[in-house]
Amino acid sequence: MLVTTKEMLLKAQKGNYAVGAFNVENMEMVMAVIAAAEELNAPVIMQTTPSTVKYAGLDYYLANVATAAKNAKVPVAMHLDHGSSFSLAMQALRQGYTSIMIDGSHSVFEENIAITKSVVDACKPSNIPVEAELGKVGGKEDDLDGGDGGYTDPKEALEFVQKTGVNSLAVAIGTAHGVYKGEPKLDLDRLVEISKVVDVPLVLHGASGLSEEAVKESIKRGICKVNFATELRIAYTDGVKELLEEKPETIDPKKYGVVGIEKVKELVKNRMMMCGCQNQA
Ligand code: 13P
Ligand code: ZN
Ligand code: NA
Repeated sequence: MLVTTKEMLLKAQKGNYAVGAFNVENMEMVMAVIAAAEELNAPVIMQTTPSTVKYAGLDYYLANVATAAKNAKVPVAMHLDHGSSFSLAMQALRQGYTSIMIDGSHSVFEENIAITKSVVDACKPSNIPVEAELGKVGGKEDDLDGGDGGYTDPKEALEFVQKTGVNSLAVAIGTAHGVYKGEPKLDLDRLVEISKVVDVPLVLHGASGLSEEAVKESIKRGICKVNFATELRIAYTDGVKELLEEKPETIDPKKYGVVGIEKVKELVKNRMMMCGCQNQA
């Protein structure tokens, strides 16, 4: 069933696990993620960035995910990841996305509060939860270069959540989008400080390339949603390449699609176990 992320994340917060959020870019990735969730009896979030919805459209992705959700026993949410404007957030809301991120982290504090609050207010009548970001997650995110991370300040986080009424908050504690050169050092003490003052579920971006330990230690300290994107791209593409290298005469997209699906499914199952969300559906 298609649900919002609101209850899903509050349940994770109570249960000390995190829900995996997976960026999907085509029908095959949706099929792989739902198969993993069903096999593990795990709640799941699928999400699309602005550059992804530019490729095919919000309606195309929502139709794929809603179809997967309709036939599934596990709860599924469809989330706009790194929503880049009020207008795109409203398009996703009208389209039927069940969770929306507005990412004002590239603006100054007061402007981030203003745009986040405007999206929260607009989503409230439909009961659609909103995620925001405070501080800067590094690396290349979507089409934007996040640059070097400015870590989330706990005091600002409290003020931000109080003033915006946001449902969940993405924090910058040393993770970055994309793969890492070497193991990143996460500021887990900062995460503890943020958790002490902020009561909404916290979100970890940039999880591709993190160690199992880093993910688990973050969850212990209040992370309730973990975002994985780059690793899914790599897994899918590896699968397709493998088949085409072995059988270059292949012209049936289903033949290499199925290998990509299998690779993504195995990866997603592994990441769900890291998050501890198996059997939490
Ligand atoms: P990665 O690409 O590092 O997994 O980051 C995912 C993410 O934060 C999506 O919003
Ligand atoms: Zn992100
Ligand atoms: Na990453």
